[in-house]
Amino acid sequence: MKILEIKDLKKTYHTKKREILAVDNFSFELEKGEFVAIVGPSGCGKSTILKMLCNLENKSSGNIAVFPGINLGYMPQGDSLFEWRSVLKNCLLGLEIKHNLTKENENYVIKLLKTYGLEDFINAYPSNLSGGMRQRVSLIRTLATKPDILLLDEPFSALDYQTRLAVSDDVYKIIKKEKKSAIMVTHDISDPMFQISMTVLNYK
Ligand SMILES: Nc1ncnc2c1ncn2[C@@H]1O[C@H](COP(=O)(O)OP(=O)(O)O)[C@@H](O)[C@H]1O
Ligand SMILES: [Mg+2]
Repeated sequence: MKILEIKDLKKTYHTKKREILAVDNFSFELEKGEFVAIVGPSGCGKSTILKMLCNLENKSSGNIAVFPGINLGYMPQGDSLFEWRSVLKNCLLGLEIKHNLTKENENYVIKLLKTYGLEDFINAYPSNLSGGMRQRVSLIRTLATKPDILLLDEPFSALDYQTRLAVSDDVYKIIKKEKKSAIMVTHDISDPMFQISMTVLNYK
């Protein structure tokens, strides 16, 4: 079942000095349960594509159709945790922004934190976590709003290879277990997440 359709997407950034054509002619369809990796060199527009999908950037032209009832969850490049918020508070951020912070949703987040090995760190601050744990927190923050499609921007590029292998495996299991679809972008075909993706799309 198709849940997302992108057609001829284009984005031009306008700076004071010049125009930058960041994304051109990008078309793509996502099926439910599919895990797609979009691969391309740095600067080719991968982050811009994900930002347009979740409305953090306006598109210049083209069409994005998210099918009814489908929600998107965005995990930005780097973990971008807030150091002054506890692990739990970081994970509740999306729910707060969507004015959807019910006791039930908070319990769901706590359950995810426990399931994925962060039980003892619920009230800790990000600075007390390892890189791999921070990435898991970042993912749980994304899962908190129960998105159907995860948008993962170079998810684990900040980690060393060993940790990346372990975390990628964790995250893959989480995505499968929670029955999500995912689009991840990377410049690195040795990325373990890339190796386990089902569909690969070379972009530029
Ligand atoms: N906010 C912005 N303003 C102007 N140019 C930008 C902005 N964001 C990205 N760009 C430019 O758009 C191009 C694509 O960037 P990006 O989507 O970040 O690529 P990638 O994620 O593939 O490395 C690059 O040339 C980058 O410099
Ligand atoms: Mg990028």
